Amino acid sequence: MERLQKVIANTGFTSRRKAEELIKNGKVKVNGKIVTELGTKVDASDLIEVENKVLEKTDRKYYFMLNKPRGYISSCEDEKNRKTIVDLIGIEARIYPVGRLDYDTTGLILLTNDGELTNILTHPKNEVPKTYIAKIEGNLTLEEFYRLKKGVVIENRKVTPEFIKIRKKSENSDIVEITIVEGRNHIVKKIFESVNHAVIKLKREKYGFLTLGNLESGEYRELSIKEVKKLYNYK
Ligand code: URA
Repeated sequence: MERLQKVIANTGFTSRRKAEELIKNGKVKVNGKIVTELGTKVDASDLIEVENKVLEKTDRKYYFMLNKPRGYISSCEDEKNRKTIVDLIGIEARIYPVGRLDYDTTGLILLTNDGELTNILTHPKNEVPKTYIAKIEGNLTLEEFYRLKKGVVIENRKVTPEFIKIRKKSENSDIVEITIVEGRNHIVKKIFESVNHAVIKLKREKYGFLTLGNLESGEYRELSIKEVKKLYNYK
């Protein structure tokens, strides 16, 4: 017997946290009855329905790394019918992105149908480091650089980079490398906005220990078993 939210997450339907929300909101039925109790245990013979759709208990897990191009959204579908990164991966199985990159952000993003791993990687307490290269408008003064290095408060919570370095200075813009363990939406843009610099271009170069290697924009590859096991170690 396993907890209902874990069974839902394990099918790759969604993350464990999202599964818990669905249960609490009365969207999950077990053997035809709505269940809102998070501790409910189920086994393989139970019929689970989520939002009135029977949960397919597919076992094959997929793990992809994509070099996201600009102009794609990081979700499975878009109400404005924009291109999604899931469309770039040629498989039938229902996979979804681990976290998000903005529409105009490029670089490394993972896609999987493993809800358990998604949960581990996106949970703030596991502090998975993510490295971004930001091209910003104007030049950072030394004072601004040290303010960022010491940490800035964004929406009542302090963000202190694990690492920050100016990679290149040009006449009216800097290229800055920044590593953070945060996953809040638009966080890198907000960090630079806090010292009055707009981000003109943003690329994620590293996710945990993973780097893009020689993946070109729009290309993807499956992760190896060794890489997946190592990602599980972030727990
Ligand atoms: N921070 C941002 O501002 N945008 C992203 O896409 C990722 C992190």
